[in-house]
Amino acid sequence: MPKEKSIKELEDLPGIGPTTAEKLKENGYDSVEKIAVASPHELSELVGLSVDNAKKAVEAARQATTLEYSTGSDLYNKRKALGRISTNAKTLDDLLGGGLETNAITEAYGKFASGKTQLSFQLSVNAQLPLDKGGLAGAVLFIDTEGTFRPERIESIAKAKELDPEQAMNNIKVVRTVTTEQQILSIERADKLVRDENIKLIVVDSMMSLFRSEFIGRGALGERQQKLNSHIHKLQALADTYNLAVYVTNQVMDNPAILFGDPTTPVGGNIMAHAATTRLYMRKSKEEKRIIRLVDSPNMPEGEAVIKITTNGIRD
Ligand SMILES: Nc1ncnc2c1ncn2[C@@H]1O[C@H](COP(=O)(O)OP(=O)(O)O)[C@@H](O)[C@H]1O
Ligand SMILES: [Mg+2]
Repeated sequence: MPKEKSIKELEDLPGIGPTTAEKLKENGYDSVEKIAVASPHELSELVGLSVDNAKKAVEAARQATTLEYSTGSDLYNKRKALGRISTNAKTLDDLLGGGLETNAITEAYGKFASGKTQLSFQLSVNAQLPLDKGGLAGAVLFIDTEGTFRPERIESIAKAKELDPEQAMNNIKVVRTVTTEQQILSIERADKLVRDENIKLIVVDSMMSLFRSEFIGRGALGERQQKLNSHIHKLQALADTYNLAVYVTNQVMDNPAILFGDPTTPVGGNIMAHAATTRLYMRKSKEEKRIIRLVDSPNMPEGEAVIKITTNGIRD
Protein backbone atom coordinates (compact mmCIF):
# COMPACT_ATOMS: atom_id res chain seq x y z
CA MET A 1 0.00 0.00 0.00
CA PRO A 2 1.39 3.43 -0.87
CA LYS A 3 2.29 5.35 2.20
CA GLU A 4 0.42 8.64 2.51
CA LYS A 5 2.44 11.75 3.15
CA SER A 6 1.66 12.99 6.61
CA ILE A 7 -0.20 16.29 6.75
CA LYS A 8 1.16 18.84 9.19
CA GLU A 9 1.26 22.18 7.40
CA LEU A 10 -1.36 23.87 5.23
CA GLU A 11 0.92 23.34 2.22
CA ASP A 12 0.66 19.57 2.72
CA LEU A 13 -3.04 19.68 1.84
CA PRO A 14 -4.04 18.81 -1.73
CA GLY A 15 -4.38 21.86 -3.97
CA ILE A 16 -2.88 24.29 -1.43
CA GLY A 17 0.28 25.99 -2.65
CA PRO A 18 2.42 28.48 -0.75
CA THR A 19 0.44 31.51 -2.01
CA THR A 20 -2.93 30.06 -1.03
CA ALA A 21 -1.51 28.93 2.31
CA GLU A 22 -0.30 32.49 2.96
CA LYS A 23 -3.73 33.92 2.12
CA LEU A 24 -5.41 31.41 4.39
CA LYS A 25 -3.09 32.34 7.24
CA GLU A 26 -3.81 36.03 6.73
CA ASN A 27 -7.47 35.19 7.20
CA GLY A 28 -6.93 33.33 10.43
CA TYR A 29 -6.81 29.80 8.98
CA ASP A 30 -3.32 29.12 10.24
CA SER A 31 -3.52 25.42 11.06
CA VAL A 32 -4.72 22.16 9.56
CA GLU A 33 -7.18 21.91 12.48
CA LYS A 34 -8.83 25.18 11.47
CA ILE A 35 -9.16 24.03 7.87
CA ALA A 36 -10.76 20.83 9.13
CA VAL A 37 -13.67 22.76 10.61
CA ALA A 38 -13.90 25.42 7.90
CA SER A 39 -16.69 25.75 5.38
CA PRO A 40 -15.42 24.93 1.87
CA HIS A 41 -17.57 27.72 0.43
CA GLU A 42 -16.04 30.28 2.72
CA LEU A 43 -12.50 29.10 1.93
CA SER A 44 -13.29 29.23 -1.74
CA GLU A 45 -14.56 32.78 -1.44
CA LEU A 46 -11.65 33.92 0.72
CA VAL A 47 -8.75 32.65 -1.32
CA GLY A 48 -10.21 31.97 -4.75
CA LEU A 49 -9.99 28.17 -4.69
CA SER A 50 -12.68 26.32 -6.61
CA VAL A 51 -15.35 24.95 -4.26
CA ASP A 52 -14.39 21.40 -5.31
CA ASN A 53 -10.74 21.93 -4.44
CA ALA A 54 -11.70 23.60 -1.19
CA LYS A 55 -13.84 20.55 -0.33
CA LYS A 56 -10.90 18.22 -1.05
CA ALA A 57 -8.62 20.30 1.17
CA VAL A 58 -11.17 20.32 4.02
CA GLU A 59 -11.71 16.56 3.67
CA ALA A 60 -7.96 15.87 3.77
CA ALA A 61 -7.60 18.17 6.77
CA ARG A 62 -10.42 16.29 8.54
CA GLN A 63 -8.75 12.95 7.94
CA ALA A 64 -5.42 14.27 9.13
CA THR A 65 -6.75 15.61 12.40
CA THR A 66 -7.97 13.48 15.20
CA LEU A 67 -10.70 14.60 17.51
CA GLU A 68 -9.40 15.65 20.87
CA TYR A 69 -11.64 15.36 23.85
CA SER A 70 -11.34 17.97 26.55
CA THR A 71 -12.39 17.33 30.09
CA GLY A 72 -14.48 19.78 32.05
CA SER A 73 -11.43 20.83 34.01
CA ASP A 74 -9.38 21.48 30.83
CA LEU A 75 -12.15 23.75 29.67
CA TYR A 76 -12.40 25.37 33.08
CA ASN A 77 -8.68 26.19 33.00
CA LYS A 78 -9.04 27.56 29.50
CA ARG A 79 -11.91 29.77 30.64
CA LYS A 80 -9.82 31.07 33.51
CA ALA A 81 -7.26 32.26 30.92
CA LEU A 82 -9.91 34.42 29.26
CA GLY A 83 -9.32 38.13 29.44
CA ARG A 84 -11.72 40.77 30.74
CA ILE A 85 -12.05 44.45 30.00
CA SER A 86 -13.59 46.52 32.77
CA THR A 87 -16.54 48.72 31.81
CA ASN A 88 -15.44 51.13 34.53
CA ALA A 89 -18.64 50.53 36.53
CA LYS A 90 -18.41 47.89 39.25
CA THR A 91 -22.10 46.97 39.07
CA LEU A 92 -21.89 46.42 35.31
CA ASP A 93 -18.63 44.46 35.59
CA ASP A 94 -20.27 42.25 38.21
CA LEU A 95 -23.29 41.74 35.98
CA LEU A 96 -20.93 40.54 33.25
CA GLY A 97 -18.96 38.31 35.62
CA GLY A 98 -15.93 40.59 35.73
CA GLY A 99 -16.13 42.74 32.61
CA LEU A 100 -16.30 42.23 28.87
CA GLU A 101 -15.00 38.75 28.06
CA THR A 102 -12.51 37.83 25.34
CA ASN A 103 -13.23 35.00 22.86
CA ALA A 104 -16.79 36.25 22.73
CA ILE A 105 -19.11 38.76 21.12
CA THR A 106 -20.96 41.09 23.48
CA GLU A 107 -23.88 42.99 21.99
CA ALA A 108 -25.43 46.14 23.44
CA TYR A 109 -28.80 47.08 22.02
CA GLY A 110 -31.11 49.93 22.82
CA LYS A 111 -32.75 53.07 21.54
CA PHE A 112 -31.01 56.23 20.41
CA ALA A 113 -29.01 57.92 23.22
CA SER A 114 -29.16 54.87 25.49
CA GLY A 115 -25.37 54.98 25.86
CA LYS A 116 -24.19 52.22 23.49
CA THR A 117 -21.56 54.41 21.86
CA GLN A 118 -20.42 55.99 25.13
CA LEU A 119 -19.80 52.51 26.54
CA SER A 120 -17.76 51.67 23.42
CA PHE A 121 -15.54 54.72 24.10
CA GLN A 122 -14.98 53.67 27.69
CA LEU A 123 -14.12 50.11 26.64
CA SER A 124 -11.76 51.46 23.95
CA VAL A 125 -9.83 53.30 26.65
CA ASN A 126 -9.99 50.58 29.30
CA ALA A 127 -8.75 47.88 26.89
CA GLN A 128 -5.46 49.79 26.86
CA LEU A 129 -4.99 49.69 30.64
CA PRO A 130 -2.64 47.15 32.21
CA LEU A 131 -4.15 43.85 33.37
CA ASP A 132 -4.16 44.80 37.04
CA LYS A 133 -6.14 47.95 36.21
CA GLY A 134 -8.94 46.16 34.37
CA GLY A 135 -7.48 46.25 30.85
CA LEU A 136 -5.71 43.94 28.44
CA ALA A 137 -2.79 46.24 27.58
CA GLY A 138 -3.89 46.15 23.97
CA ALA A 139 -4.99 48.33 21.10
CA VAL A 140 -8.47 48.71 19.60
CA LEU A 141 -10.00 48.33 16.15
CA PHE A 142 -13.07 50.55 15.94
CA ILE A 143 -15.47 50.12 13.02
CA ASP A 144 -17.58 53.28 12.89
CA THR A 145 -20.57 52.76 10.60
CA GLU A 146 -22.58 55.76 11.82
CA GLY A 147 -19.93 58.48 11.93
CA THR A 148 -20.29 58.92 15.68
CA PHE A 149 -16.71 58.22 16.79
CA ARG A 150 -15.51 61.25 18.78
CA PRO A 151 -11.78 61.53 19.55
CA GLU A 152 -12.47 64.27 22.08
CA ARG A 153 -14.50 61.81 24.14
CA ILE A 154 -11.53 59.41 24.09
CA GLU A 155 -9.34 62.30 25.21
CA SER A 156 -11.51 63.09 28.28
CA ILE A 157 -12.01 59.44 29.22
CA ALA A 158 -8.29 58.65 28.81
CA LYS A 159 -7.27 61.63 30.96
CA ALA A 160 -9.63 60.47 33.69
CA LYS A 161 -7.87 57.07 33.59
CA GLU A 162 -4.45 58.78 33.74
CA LEU A 163 -3.46 57.63 30.27
CA ASP A 164 -1.65 59.89 27.82
CA PRO A 165 -4.61 61.08 25.70
CA GLU A 166 -2.53 61.36 22.52
CA GLN A 167 -1.31 57.79 22.89
CA ALA A 168 -4.77 56.54 23.82
CA MET A 169 -6.20 58.03 20.62
CA ASN A 170 -3.36 56.57 18.52
CA ASN A 171 -4.03 53.13 19.96
CA ILE A 172 -7.54 53.17 18.48
CA LYS A 173 -7.57 52.32 14.79
CA VAL A 174 -10.81 53.76 13.47
CA VAL A 175 -12.33 52.64 10.17
CA ARG A 176 -15.25 54.75 9.00
CA THR A 177 -17.42 52.61 6.75
CA VAL A 178 -20.34 53.79 4.64
CA THR A 179 -21.25 50.53 2.87
CA THR A 180 -21.72 46.96 4.09
CA GLU A 181 -19.00 45.97 1.64
CA GLN A 182 -16.53 48.18 3.54
CA GLN A 183 -17.81 46.98 6.88
CA ILE A 184 -17.32 43.35 5.87
CA LEU A 185 -13.87 43.99 4.39
CA SER A 186 -12.71 45.89 7.47
CA ILE A 187 -13.15 42.67 9.45
CA GLU A 188 -12.13 40.22 6.73
CA ARG A 189 -8.80 41.99 6.34
CA ALA A 190 -8.18 42.59 10.02
CA ASP A 191 -5.87 39.65 10.79
CA LYS A 192 -2.60 41.40 10.03
CA LEU A 193 -3.59 44.56 11.91
CA VAL A 194 -4.78 42.54 14.89
CA ARG A 195 -1.44 40.72 15.08
CA ASP A 196 0.82 43.69 14.35
CA GLU A 197 -0.93 46.11 16.69
CA ASN A 198 -1.92 43.68 19.45
CA ILE A 199 -5.61 44.47 19.07
CA LYS A 200 -7.49 43.25 22.14
CA LEU A 201 -10.88 44.82 21.44
CA ILE A 202 -12.89 45.14 18.24
CA VAL A 203 -15.86 47.51 18.29
CA VAL A 204 -18.53 47.54 15.58
CA ASP A 205 -20.79 50.55 16.15
CA SER A 206 -23.32 49.80 14.81
CA MET A 207 -23.60 46.30 13.49
CA MET A 208 -26.88 46.54 11.60
CA SER A 209 -27.40 50.13 10.43
CA LEU A 210 -25.74 49.76 7.01
CA PHE A 211 -27.23 46.30 6.48
CA ARG A 212 -30.66 47.73 7.21
CA SER A 213 -30.33 50.66 4.86
CA GLU A 214 -28.85 48.64 1.98
CA PHE A 215 -31.03 45.55 2.03
CA ILE A 216 -34.58 46.80 1.91
CA GLY A 217 -37.70 44.70 1.57
CA ARG A 218 -38.48 41.04 2.00
CA GLY A 219 -36.73 40.02 -1.20
CA ALA A 220 -33.37 41.24 0.09
CA LEU A 221 -33.67 39.70 3.53
CA GLY A 222 -32.17 36.33 2.62
CA GLU A 223 -29.10 37.87 1.07
CA ARG A 224 -28.73 40.30 3.97
CA GLN A 225 -28.82 37.53 6.57
CA GLN A 226 -26.34 35.44 4.59
CA LYS A 227 -23.84 38.29 4.41
CA LEU A 228 -24.45 39.16 8.05
CA ASN A 229 -23.86 35.55 9.04
CA SER A 230 -20.47 35.32 7.38
CA HIS A 231 -19.48 38.75 8.75
CA ILE A 232 -20.31 37.67 12.30
CA HIS A 233 -18.59 34.33 11.74
CA LYS A 234 -15.39 36.17 10.90
CA LEU A 235 -15.72 38.38 13.99
CA GLN A 236 -16.09 35.31 16.18
CA ALA A 237 -13.09 33.69 14.45
CA LEU A 238 -10.96 36.75 15.26
CA ALA A 239 -12.17 36.66 18.87
CA ASP A 240 -11.21 32.98 19.16
CA THR A 241 -7.95 33.10 17.26
CA TYR A 242 -6.50 36.13 19.03
CA ASN A 243 -8.25 35.88 22.41
CA LEU A 244 -9.78 39.32 21.98
CA ALA A 245 -13.09 40.89 22.98
CA VAL A 246 -15.73 42.00 20.48
CA TYR A 247 -18.29 44.67 21.38
CA VAL A 248 -21.06 45.38 18.89
CA THR A 249 -23.97 47.79 19.19
CA ASN A 250 -27.38 47.19 17.73
CA GLN A 251 -30.53 49.12 16.99
CA VAL A 252 -34.01 48.19 18.12
CA MET A 253 -37.50 48.12 16.72
CA ASP A 254 -40.88 47.73 18.31
CA ASN A 255 -42.09 44.20 17.88
CA PRO A 256 -45.90 44.30 17.55
CA ALA A 257 -46.05 40.57 18.32
CA ILE A 258 -45.13 41.30 21.94
CA LEU A 259 -48.41 42.27 23.58
CA PHE A 260 -47.30 42.41 27.20
CA GLY A 261 -44.13 43.93 28.58
CA ASP A 262 -41.48 45.86 26.69
CA PRO A 263 -41.89 45.37 22.94
CA THR A 264 -38.37 46.65 22.19
CA THR A 265 -36.51 44.01 20.17
CA PRO A 266 -32.99 44.12 18.72
CA VAL A 267 -32.82 43.96 14.91
CA GLY A 268 -30.86 41.37 12.94
CA GLY A 269 -33.09 38.40 13.60
CA ASN A 270 -31.91 34.97 14.64
CA ILE A 271 -28.48 35.37 13.11
CA MET A 272 -27.71 38.28 15.41
CA ALA A 273 -29.41 36.65 18.39
CA HIS A 274 -27.35 33.46 18.09
CA ALA A 275 -24.09 35.24 17.33
CA ALA A 276 -23.88 37.31 20.48
CA THR A 277 -22.52 35.37 23.43
CA THR A 278 -23.86 38.00 25.78
CA ARG A 279 -26.62 40.55 25.09
CA LEU A 280 -27.14 43.76 27.01
CA TYR A 281 -30.28 45.86 26.75
CA MET A 282 -29.59 49.53 27.53
CA ARG A 283 -32.23 52.07 28.34
CA LYS A 284 -32.37 55.66 29.37
CA SER A 285 -33.40 56.53 32.90
CA LYS A 286 -33.38 59.90 34.64
CA GLU A 287 -30.77 62.40 33.42
CA GLU A 288 -27.38 60.73 33.02
CA LYS A 289 -28.56 57.39 34.42
CA ARG A 290 -28.86 54.32 32.22
CA ILE A 291 -30.29 50.91 33.08
CA ILE A 292 -28.48 47.93 31.60
CA ARG A 293 -30.13 44.56 31.59
CA LEU A 294 -28.24 41.32 30.99
CA VAL A 295 -30.61 39.51 28.65
CA ASP A 296 -28.66 36.51 27.50
CA SER A 297 -25.55 34.96 28.95
CA PRO A 298 -24.22 31.38 28.93
CA ASN A 299 -23.04 31.54 32.52
CA MET A 300 -24.39 34.59 34.35
CA PRO A 301 -27.87 35.07 35.82
CA GLU A 302 -30.13 37.72 34.34
CA GLY A 303 -30.02 41.00 36.16
CA GLU A 304 -29.69 44.75 35.93
CA ALA A 305 -27.08 47.40 36.61
CA VAL A 306 -27.49 51.16 36.78
CA ILE A 307 -24.66 53.28 35.39
CA LYS A 308 -24.05 56.97 34.79
CA ILE A 309 -22.74 58.60 31.64
CA THR A 310 -20.44 61.46 32.64
CA THR A 311 -17.99 63.71 30.80
CA ASN A 312 -15.24 61.47 32.16
CA GLY A 313 -16.92 58.28 30.99
CA ILE A 314 -18.96 55.50 32.53
CA ARG A 315 -19.40 55.48 36.30
CA ASP A 316 -21.41 53.52 38.88
N1 LIG B 1 -19.34 64.68 27.09
C1 LIG B 1 -20.41 64.11 27.61
N2 LIG B 1 -20.68 64.21 28.90
C2 LIG B 1 -21.76 63.66 29.45
N3 LIG B 1 -22.66 62.95 28.74
C3 LIG B 1 -22.46 62.81 27.44
C4 LIG B 1 -21.33 63.37 26.80
N4 LIG B 1 -21.39 63.05 25.49
C5 LIG B 1 -22.51 62.34 25.34
N5 LIG B 1 -23.16 62.19 26.50
C6 LIG B 1 -24.44 61.52 26.72
O1 LIG B 1 -24.48 60.32 26.03
C7 LIG B 1 -25.78 60.13 25.45
C8 LIG B 1 -25.62 59.53 24.09
O2 LIG B 1 -25.17 58.25 24.25
P1 LIG B 1 -24.72 57.38 23.01
O3 LIG B 1 -23.80 56.36 23.55
O4 LIG B 1 -24.22 58.25 21.94
O5 LIG B 1 -26.10 56.74 22.59
P2 LIG B 1 -26.37 55.59 21.52
O6 LIG B 1 -27.00 54.52 22.33
O7 LIG B 1 -27.33 56.21 20.57
O8 LIG B 1 -25.07 55.20 20.91
C9 LIG B 1 -26.43 61.47 25.38
O9 LIG B 1 -27.70 61.35 25.98
C10 LIG B 1 -25.54 62.37 26.17
O10 LIG B 1 -26.27 62.88 27.25
MG1 LIG C 1 -24.42 55.35 18.93
